[in-house]
Amino acid sequence: MKEPFDEQLRDWDRSIVWHAFTQMAEYEPFLIERAHACTLVDIEGSEYLDGVSSMWCNVHGHRHPRLDAAVCEQLERVAHVTNLGASNPTTIKLARRLVELAPAGLEHVFFSDDGATAVEVAIKMALQYWRQRPDPRPAKTCYVALGEAYHGDTLGSVSVGGVERFHAMFEPLLFETIRVPVPDPYRTPPGLAPESCLEHYLGEMERVLAEHHERIAAVVIEPLVQGAAGMIVHPPGYLRGVRELTRKYDVLLIADEVAVAFGRTGRMFACEHEGVSPDLLCLAKGLTGGYLPLAATLATGEIYRAFLGDYAESKTFFHGHTYGGNPLGAAVALASLDVFEEEGTLDKLPPKIARLAEHLERISALPHVGHVRQCGLIAGVELVRDRATKEPYPWSEKRGLRLCEYAKTEGVWLRPLGNVVVIMPPLAVSIEELDRICGAVERGAAIALSEGE
Ligand SMILES: Cc1ncc(COP(=O)(O)O)c(C=O)c1O
Repeated sequence: MKEPFDEQLRDWDRSIVWHAFTQMAEYEPFLIERAHACTLVDIEGSEYLDGVSSMWCNVHGHRHPRLDAAVCEQLERVAHVTNLGASNPTTIKLARRLVELAPAGLEHVFFSDDGATAVEVAIKMALQYWRQRPDPRPAKTCYVALGEAYHGDTLGSVSVGGVERFHAMFEPLLFETIRVPVPDPYRTPPGLAPESCLEHYLGEMERVLAEHHERIAAVVIEPLVQGAAGMIVHPPGYLRGVRELTRKYDVLLIADEVAVAFGRTGRMFACEHEGVSPDLLCLAKGLTGGYLPLAATLATGEIYRAFLGDYAESKTFFHGHTYGGNPLGAAVALASLDVFEEEGTLDKLPPKIARLAEHLERISALPHVGHVRQCGLIAGVELVRDRATKEPYPWSEKRGLRLCEYAKTEGVWLRPLGNVVVIMPPLAVSIEELDRICGAVERGAAIALSEGE
């Protein structure tokens, strides 16, 4: 086949490829052909800083020599081995490494291929665990999830999700989930003092658990930060409080660290900040440094043992994905964990996190910035029509998108969540690159928000 021209590629991209979370009627192709470190390069050679880590997954930068080599070396052995009744050394080593690193008590690793599948697995494991444990509790079939939660787009993950715009359409297909309010310190109920926020939201969780615990299998939570909800940072102590309540009411805790693990919050796992060990831990995105689709659901020994028995008892976990535990993904995941050690990735974060905080403080003073929030190298800048009333801009005005379009003219690629501009560069970002990203956000805010006033 003859190599297509750039314009032809754009045409095909517009007319044939159906892009995720994208209105295809107005899609404008953005064709990245190559990348290096924190920079993306389009087919015309223009460069853009990767301000959102290629959808929150890149860690050490693109084309990291150590990670590239790991994929090549694995390719010389085997590209894929099934996980169904078979294994390979690379995937086994990764499982062992994850168990060593993860919060205490998580002793077993079930591999799948994406964030949504990691959560799907955890949901099904929780239900089956309650049915098969020595003292079965078959009535536990319901889940508690947080308002505006996002856990991926497969139907189980959507059932425990709560982003109205994404999920409402699929309501007829979903199972019952009890929702507790999103613990958002910015948009609190009227009259609630900020210092009472933690107590209030934990109170709401306890009310639900006290009333329904007999039928609740698990609470599902994005620890510390609710990503797709708009990078909402929970009040400190909330995660620990939820862990204590789930123990008190004999309910499992599923921690979905798909977006926040692997250094994003400043620690390897977000749960570490509050000394929490969940019963099930979901990992994906940064697991492979952002290179390949691979996901893992880690489970405690107690959960794992409930699935053991004679073949005929059928206690097996009847769930699997063709590419779960793929050795290429496992190889690059192992290399990514090596790079964390060799380059001292976590030790290098504090000055970057501090610099981001300085920028955010300045940005927070802009007229239409209602709130800025940060956890590690995750930041959300919420644009509002009215700072005093917190009145949002109508979704249709695309203010976040307009700001990001401006940033592109400065060579910075960002993707917003409605009116929230997300700043989430690879952990390998330099201070100078952070300055450029935040500078583009600041100037973009002035330009995108003054139009149409
Ligand atoms: C917290 C969380 N869980 C799950 C997912 C789904 O991951 P994936 O897109 O890999 O299925 C995401 C994606 O953004 C996420 O942020």
